[in-house]
Amino acid sequence: EKGGFDTFMAKEIHEQPQAVADTLRGRIDESGQIVLDEVRMSDQDFRDIDKVFIVACGTSYHAGLVTKYAIEHWTRIPCEVELASEFRYRDPVLDRSTLVVAISQSGETMDTLMAVRHAKDQKARVLSISNTVGSTIPRESDAVLYTRAGIEVAVASTKAFLTQLAACYLVGLHLAQVRGIKYADEVSAVLDELVAAPGKIAKVIEGLDPVRQMARECAGQDRVLFIGRHVGYPVALEGALKLKELAYLHAEGFAAGELKHGPISLIEAGTPVVAIVPSPRGRSLLHDKIISNIQEVKARGAKVIAVCEEGDKIAAVHADFVIETPASPTLLAPLLTAVPLQEFAAELATALGRDIDQPRNLAKSVTVE
Ligand code: F6R
Repeated sequence: EKGGFDTFMAKEIHEQPQAVADTLRGRIDESGQIVLDEVRMSDQDFRDIDKVFIVACGTSYHAGLVTKYAIEHWTRIPCEVELASEFRYRDPVLDRSTLVVAISQSGETMDTLMAVRHAKDQKARVLSISNTVGSTIPRESDAVLYTRAGIEVAVASTKAFLTQLAACYLVGLHLAQVRGIKYADEVSAVLDELVAAPGKIAKVIEGLDPVRQMARECAGQDRVLFIGRHVGYPVALEGALKLKELAYLHAEGFAAGELKHGPISLIEAGTPVVAIVPSPRGRSLLHDKIISNIQEVKARGAKVIAVCEEGDKIAAVHADFVIETPASPTLLAPLLTAVPLQEFAAELATALGRDIDQPRNLAKSVTVE
């Protein structure tokens, strides 16, 4: 049942190209319009939206953080992301023109469900993204887009996360389309790139051997830090979460610019720092900034592992080790850069003798608040 792999997690990592392709299939009609599964909202309702809140927990929350960058850029609608467990306790400002996007693989996470109910009480519209057809969160939502990851057995989410990203991009593009697009060219270019993503994810997976070797070398460390900027920041958080849950190791993700405001004091000689490096093309300012962050941590003795675009010579010069991913538009890069971090966590945890599919203290679906 593990399809020749040692763990379900390994199997599910390898299923990611297919899962993302399945999630995109049939969702873009002949005229290039995005089609949601269930919509109890009119196009006018979507046009009236003036604010988006994304609510989710854990890995799904990280998918939400990436989505904020995409939605604001493509639609110019203000978008906030909030942990579902915090959302309703702070009395957020919600009304009929607010769209709440709830992301939940299981569709049953109690904190997310409670956030959805609170949003509905306040008359907000709710769109959910879930991997489980007919689960409670989609049933209570005004619109639904299902991810098609198939059943995810390993407790640590991998293919569900990548399909959430794919579905979230579709939602962002749908919002942009329904509201009339200022960036029509950009949206169709992004759609083309999205359709090309599964092939690139497969390429990342083929190249994971050096990541495994790197992970084993880090197994003696008592902490690993992850840094990123822009959409690389949520990827850093996700890399750290995977490592915490699988290896029971102190791992933290930081917005790279925040390092000098405190966390840089964690760095000792040999501390591994995984840096998510954006493409050197286009937004090169972002690239320059993270290269200087790499220099800052190296000066304090860190061992830097850079996840960068293939052919990024500058990252190769500054980092101790590079993991290359195929070129991709900045906003879509998390579909690629998250994958080596999943493998890194799984391999490091394996070196420490952990139970990869069933980490201690964790359950696949958290149905208590
Ligand atoms: C981490 C992980 C969890 C879930 C979280 C939300 O690998 O799997 O953090 O992402 O419990 O679960 P769902 O998406 O089912 O609401």
